[in-house]
Amino acid sequence: MPADDRLAREVAQRRTFAIISHPDAGKTTLTEKLLLFSGAVHEAGAVKSRKQAKQATSDWMKLEQERGISISSTVLHFAYAAPDRGPEGGWRFNLLDTPGHADFSEDTYRTLCAADAAVMVLDMAKGLEPQTLKLFRVCADRGLPIVTFVNKCDRPGMAPLELLDEITSEIGLEPVAQTWPVADGADFAGVIDRSSNELVRFDRTVHGATVGEEERIPVEKAQEAGGEAFGCPEDRFEAAFEELELLEVDQPELDREAFLAGRQTPVFFGSALANFGVRLLLEGFADLAPHPTPQPTVEPGEPRPIDEDFSGQVFKVQANMNPKHRDRVAFLRVNSGWFQRGGQATLARTGRQFPMKYAHQLFADDRETAETAVAGDIVGLVNASGLQPGDTLYAGKPVTFPPIPTFSPERFARIRNRDSSRYKQFRSALRQLDEEGVVQVLQHPELGEQEPILAGVGQLQFEVAKHRMTNEFGCTVELEPTPYELAREVSAEDAERVRDQRGTMVARDRHDRWLVLFANDFALRWAEQDFPDVTFHEMGMAR
Ligand code: G4P
Repeated sequence: MPADDRLAREVAQRRTFAIISHPDAGKTTLTEKLLLFSGAVHEAGAVKSRKQAKQATSDWMKLEQERGISISSTVLHFAYAAPDRGPEGGWRFNLLDTPGHADFSEDTYRTLCAADAAVMVLDMAKGLEPQTLKLFRVCADRGLPIVTFVNKCDRPGMAPLELLDEITSEIGLEPVAQTWPVADGADFAGVIDRSSNELVRFDRTVHGATVGEEERIPVEKAQEAGGEAFGCPEDRFEAAFEELELLEVDQPELDREAFLAGRQTPVFFGSALANFGVRLLLEGFADLAPHPTPQPTVEPGEPRPIDEDFSGQVFKVQANMNPKHRDRVAFLRVNSGWFQRGGQATLARTGRQFPMKYAHQLFADDRETAETAVAGDIVGLVNASGLQPGDTLYAGKPVTFPPIPTFSPERFARIRNRDSSRYKQFRSALRQLDEEGVVQVLQHPELGEQEPILAGVGQLQFEVAKHRMTNEFGCTVELEPTPYELAREVSAEDAERVRDQRGTMVARDRHDRWLVLFANDFALRWAEQDFPDVTFHEMGMAR
């Protein structure tokens, strides 16, 4: 087979995605069940026990562990072959992990930038929750198609029609149910697979630790048998079928284009804990979600074709993933060609050669060496000290992928060095953390490097920065919160004009961009009134 055909076939099998959810909705449980299908883990519990390890620790250890979890599982690779689908029914998934804690960070955002689609997990009893909404907005901004999984149907939940309404009214997506739950909680009898018109029966005795058989019953037969046959009161059983009839009338058909454009979301119901509805979700997702496609570049013209020479973009840099090794790993999403370990690439930013000697794909806590990878795959480049988020690596024809947009920072804290003998380390630590994208480091025009300002979107970013400065660089630092909550970019001349405005502060970032920090929207509006000819540009992505 010609090499290009093989590449095209490999890429067609890839699905690179993230799961977004509010804490406790069931993301860890679902992840574990997805891995179960791939045979990557044989018994449920592997992912969970790591999460419990996280919860058992305290203070800084907890922070490290928390980071450890989200770091070591930045991406999970798994394969799945549908038992009854023949050669077309085989996929390779790259599941990008977004941190499970409530605190949002730039990391989360950058990670979502490397995904081609997302699964949004909702707790059936709670519907759309704040963290889900935040993450949804990022996905929507990136134009990611979203598949919805309504979890915990084995518990009493919201009425499913009400849940669909909430999706429409809260996030403006048109939900299209692919499966439909028959009752919930103790009465939950299973889901109706609308594509095959079968009831997939929920068996309460199976605990979901292994991949079990699904019992499928044609809908007419199920209706003939009646609810009692499935442990469901008759009225609730019938209600589910009536709802389904309503859907047939009211709901549009699923239109793949509308899904890919982020207008429709296919909805699946199930119980991750019971491993129920997960196979339907997995196969439905695999069928619908896009495989990696050519990525736009900063060069004018067409996006980089998938079958061009190797290229990829770093979306995240993480130091000290493994405390024993003190290493620095750059996570690269391959965008074209074959990634070959040991190959040479050019770093677009500097034009220098970059040897890709040490590359890993990450699975849970273990690293496996990545020999080859194709578009959509994520490789961890170890000892990648020269790489920054957004960097492009390529072979052959030069290419640069557009920078990964950053969030407009909304938290700012002064950081002070409390040990004058460690001033050099203080400065180099800040430079490194800034380059890695842990926090942004701003300089006040007068105080400059003496008293930099850390900027970020979540408090955790500051905590991580402080923790790493203390433990890794041996610095003693003090953080002092500031009252500022939003930032706008202005020209250097305008920064000079605005700098004495009350309730604001001007600062410069490492790219020499001038920022004006405001305590709130009012302060911004006053400044806009006082300086009508100054343009206050929104930075990156505003939340
Ligand atoms: P997260 O990663 O989104 O934070 O959620 P996680 O999977 O950890 O699930 C949160 C809690 O919800 C867990 O219970 C988990 O067992 C439970 N859960 C997840 N999916 C389902 C489901 O489909 N049905 C039901 N009934 N519960 C579900 P926990 O008590 O916090 O932890 P554990 O003691 O069960 O491990």
